[in-house]
Amino acid sequence: MDGQPAESRAEPLLALRGVGKQYPSGRNVVSALTDVTLTVAAGEFVSIVGPSGSGKSTLMNILGLLDRPTSGAYQLAGRPMERMGARQLAAERNERIGFVFQSFYLLPHLRLVDNVAAPLLYFGMAPGRRVERAMAALRLVGIDHLAQRRPTQVSGGQQQRAAIARALVTHPRLILADEPTGNLDTRTSREIMDVFRTLNTEGLTIVQVTHEPGIARYGHRIVAMRDGRVESVASQAEWQSTLDEKDGWSV
Ligand SMILES: Nc1ncnc2c1ncn2[C@@H]1O[C@H](COP(=O)(O)OP(=O)(O)O)[C@@H](O)[C@H]1O
Ligand SMILES: [Mg+2]
Repeated sequence: MDGQPAESRAEPLLALRGVGKQYPSGRNVVSALTDVTLTVAAGEFVSIVGPSGSGKSTLMNILGLLDRPTSGAYQLAGRPMERMGARQLAAERNERIGFVFQSFYLLPHLRLVDNVAAPLLYFGMAPGRRVERAMAALRLVGIDHLAQRRPTQVSGGQQQRAAIARALVTHPRLILADEPTGNLDTRTSREIMDVFRTLNTEGLTIVQVTHEPGIARYGHRIVAMRDGRVESVASQAEWQSTLDEKDGWSV
């Protein structure tokens, strides 16, 4: 794990300023996020931690343009997202962002190569080119030899690798991963983090949510959420030193 990304002085890739998100709940409203200000530089690897219900997924959905803030501002690559219509947001999402989830969401009847190639349908790419790109993405995550298998014919870790390949196939600049190791054992989780670390070293920006301190430590910065607010931000070294105090967390 190395230190700061080279591009951290540049304009942030992601910038949330004073973001709030409220959901109607019967006659009341639930505040899922309150006054969240957070920037992520291009090339950074950030981990978001916090208890269940603290707003992590809401934050990821906003960063991923799957949902809009109720208040505040969000700039992606320097451009204000609140001015964009639904079609523009979808285009931004498809072109810039790859998503990885706790449940892999692979289509069971499709071979891995076809699962990975699926997002390219949006771009109207020729079938041969789609397969080439999918194979290249599978190679990046080390499972191109499993391309012809179906999801049930590979392990959980291999399914998550395929899901990461699917996120990479459009060549996004940003990966958003919500509990990517939530369904994996410790050893496989570490392997997935090694994949992320390698991708990050090659320039991809990564924001991941995890509730496991030993997985969070792969981030350059660890953002702790509580009750919809950013409670604290730790550097990797600061986070590591708190891990050393508690035994057993060093994954
Ligand atoms: N679509 C929704 N409608 C109503 N309340 C929601 C919705 N999504 C999330 N919430 C509420 O917002 C808060 C934050 O949820 P969430 O972002 O899912 O937290 P986390 O991912 O940290 O567990 C919780 O109180 C949750 O119940
Ligand atoms: Mg969540």
